[in-house]
Amino acid sequence: MKVPFVNYPLQYKNIETEIDSAIKKILNNGDLILRQDVDDFEKNMADFLGVKYAVGVNSCTDALIFSLKSAGIKEGDEVITVSHTFFATIEAIIHCRAKPVLVDVGEDFVMDVSKVESNITDKTKAIIPVHFNGHMVDMDKLNEIAKRHNLIIIEDAAQALGAAFNNKKAGSLGLAGCFSFYPAKLLGAFGDAGIVATNDQVLAKNIRLLRNHGLRTKTEILLFGFTSRLDNLQAAVLNVKFKYLDQWIQRRRKIAEIYKDKLFDVKNIKLPFNSGGRFFDVFQNFVIRAEKRDELFIFLKEKEIETLVKDPVPNHLHLGLRLDHFNLPLTERLAKEVISLPMYPELTDEQVNYVISCVKEFYKL
Ligand SMILES: Cc1ncc(COP(=O)(O)O)c(C=O)c1O
Repeated sequence: MKVPFVNYPLQYKNIETEIDSAIKKILNNGDLILRQDVDDFEKNMADFLGVKYAVGVNSCTDALIFSLKSAGIKEGDEVITVSHTFFATIEAIIHCRAKPVLVDVGEDFVMDVSKVESNITDKTKAIIPVHFNGHMVDMDKLNEIAKRHNLIIIEDAAQALGAAFNNKKAGSLGLAGCFSFYPAKLLGAFGDAGIVATNDQVLAKNIRLLRNHGLRTKTEILLFGFTSRLDNLQAAVLNVKFKYLDQWIQRRRKIAEIYKDKLFDVKNIKLPFNSGGRFFDVFQNFVIRAEKRDELFIFLKEKEIETLVKDPVPNHLHLGLRLDHFNLPLTERLAKEVISLPMYPELTDEQVNYVISCVKEFYKL
């Protein structure tokens, strides 16, 4: 049995008619740049997240850069985040000429909030919590620290669309929330796409300008901006897929439950943190910590199961980046141990069970 790590064609097959007709409509009308479908998608996202504004951009990386810039982050400022993230989080800070200050994560793979306060200096201006693998940072504690020190919070929610903490959605709890619609994400475009969610009208307005060369109207330029619009064609695709989002999240949660139920007795692995309670996880990824991780990867590959070892070298230890002065023991340990098992709604129970039996076979259980 083959278990690919992602299966884009299968998802397309399941909704082919709707997708084809949405794309045909766009092409026949020539609605390519900032048209109704972008407005509709922004409205869908704002309603879904429970925020006032959502602004479509071309990626989450730009969503992060624009949010930081619009919040006034500039040269010399310090921004606290984690190294255990996709590198874009750190890049965004660098592109604002600010300094990333990296703190360690906890056993749940997200920012260890207890490590934040000791890293605050008089230059600290913002914190970027990364809601990793579909699991949120404890935003009560983080917001409390941010408030006390007068810091901005920009949420990196690229991996957490639909995740919640205390019934509040990821991306709705800071000044801005940044999302990615990269194809493998919970809601994936047929290319790159992103969005900024916010309740702040001024910030939303500024990001609308930044994404489109500072143009307020076709002829009036207010600031130096970028080419970073959300493609109308991608927005149309995302509007079709959006109807399935809740259903897809439920299926991911179900798959996670099967993995957890049947792998709990494998002593050589650690399953994702069992959060529950105040946390609603959406399992963008199903990441385990595994003994003999690299051998497991090869063994599963031989069994035609694709897994992912994304960051064998933690972000801060890449040569030449000058970020290696941070003391992040768990981050460094995780880089040696974590492996993502296949996780997407189209996986069948048979495939999930096959992955489970192969993991058990590897550890000779
Ligand atoms: C945590 C995190 N932040 C930021 C990004 C960047 O998103 P994009 O590829 O849309 O720029 C990603 C993408 O994988 C991500 O996982």
